[in-house]
Amino acid sequence: MDYSTKSVLECGSATIVNCLPEIGLETAVSEIIAGLIEQPKRISSKYFYDKTGSELFEQITGLDEYYLSRTEKAILQGLPFCAVIDCSDVDIVELGSGDHSKITLLLKKIPPERLPGVRYFPVDISRPALETSIRELTGMFPELSVQGIVADYIHQMHLVPGERKKLYCFLGSTIGNLDREEAMVFVRDISETMNPGDGFLIGFDRVKDMSVLENAYNDARGLTAQFNKNILNVVNGLIESDLNPEDFEHKAFYNRTERRIEMHLEAKRALRIKSPFSEKDIRIRKEEKIHTENSHKFEEKDIRFTGECADLAVQNIFSDDNDWFSLVHYRKMI
Ligand code: AVJ
Repeated sequence: MDYSTKSVLECGSATIVNCLPEIGLETAVSEIIAGLIEQPKRISSKYFYDKTGSELFEQITGLDEYYLSRTEKAILQGLPFCAVIDCSDVDIVELGSGDHSKITLLLKKIPPERLPGVRYFPVDISRPALETSIRELTGMFPELSVQGIVADYIHQMHLVPGERKKLYCFLGSTIGNLDREEAMVFVRDISETMNPGDGFLIGFDRVKDMSVLENAYNDARGLTAQFNKNILNVVNGLIESDLNPEDFEHKAFYNRTERRIEMHLEAKRALRIKSPFSEKDIRIRKEEKIHTENSHKFEEKDIRFTGECADLAVQNIFSDDNDWFSLVHYRKMI
């Protein structure tokens, strides 16, 4: 790709390329205002991850109830890596890399003498998160070539140089945050940038007993509630409003028809919110809900269908003994 118009930052021995369009902030403000005026009200889950939100999520991944992260990591740890890609001369592109703990497990599977032939491209919307993980990774794997890309990976693909063999990774069941249709389109868009033989590794949270699912999003310590309410602080920062997280209650439940956990914030009383970016006050009724997140759960048929829609063949489904989580290895066919 043409990096000449993008800003390139040094990060130790690695570089970070900033591909976020300048209009980012303006778009965020109008998207948030529109979502708060609309009925039902909604805030996109991508706004969870400011510094506090990312820290809270990291704490959530350590909770007993939140089986997702530890289950996926156990699967990664048990993975016969060279079964997933032949380890030599490959570009690993991680979409929404967030913290580097998952990719570290994968990189540890590569025989050290092969590392100089591997390049790692973490793509994330958060520059601070990229900087931290790049520093730690280059410390751990000095031979590995790393280049970070700051981008909204959902809308900006085609960012990675095309010649070499590729393994895309979309881990953590982040795919669950997208609507079913969006997820299909996203996987297909990525697939269109792939060459035959390239791989795609996607982490899917599976459909399971409803109480296990609901407990994972209603933990006893209330961290998920804090995480959910923190989105209001992020919104306040962006639209200069004065939403008070204490005016809302955390609600998370399984929607059986849609096969997803939904998170909402329910107003404890009627509210009128002001923002310099909105002519009219934003009115919220008592007990009105703001929808903040969908976390879709997947059956095996969903996993296969996702591949079929994108010309990707399922090579392997790696799961834990309970089938609570699956790491799926797809391969580009044509
Ligand atoms: C990071 C999107 C996978 O949906 O389970 C955790 C975020 N939300 N607790 C998920 C989240 C509430 C998480 N993902």
